[in-house]
Amino acid sequence: MTQIACPIEEALARKYPEPVVLVTTRDHDGRANVMAAAWVCFASSEPWMFLLGIDAGARTYEVIVRTRQFVVAFPHEGMGRETLYAGTNHGHATDKFKETGLAMQDASVVRAPLVRDAVANFECELVEIYQPGDCPLIAGKVVAAHANRDADLRRLCLVGPDYRLGGLRPA
Ligand SMILES: Cc1cc2nc3c(=O)[nH]c(=O)nc-3n(C[C@H](O)[C@H](O)[C@H](O)COP(=O)(O)O)c2cc1C
Repeated sequence: MTQIACPIEEALARKYPEPVVLVTTRDHDGRANVMAAAWVCFASSEPWMFLLGIDAGARTYEVIVRTRQFVVAFPHEGMGRETLYAGTNHGHATDKFKETGLAMQDASVVRAPLVRDAVANFECELVEIYQPGDCPLIAGKVVAAHANRDADLRRLCLVGPDYRLGGLRPA
């Protein structure tokens, strides 16, 4: 027998590598924020949609509910430090763009900023929030996309437990 029954958590510990994204928002008062998210997948291709699992206690969740807009950015493999900071600090009282030095660029449709040096950015408008379990699932329609001029940049991934971040070398 090759497959051995085990607790769900033990099997899930084999999930790496897993891509990680940065989610940016901008509140009505103009304050931009950024968080890290690994619970992300595509939900539709016509139109393109992302599905993000975002904890209801996150500042990002609050602002998406209020503004119905956000940006999904693919950080590059050199953005581990900034991604970890964005993913371990709440934006309620902290300016994470300032603290990390992440540069912003104006988006074309939404008010949330692009992450200037990311591999790619996707401007999204909120379609629906589902809650089938303990985590709100945010479906966002992509209304504009941007790719870095440098096509060789590689995406940052979670490569192991405890937020171990890194790039992937081609085989
Ligand atoms: C690599 C990484 C991945 C994460 N993935 C998620 C995720 O998918 N969903 C989530 O709600 N929080 C995730 N987090 C935690 C949030 O980024 C964290 O709670 C953050 O402080 C929320 O920021 P905010 O309150 O400014 O929105 C992740 C953190 C890291 C470091």
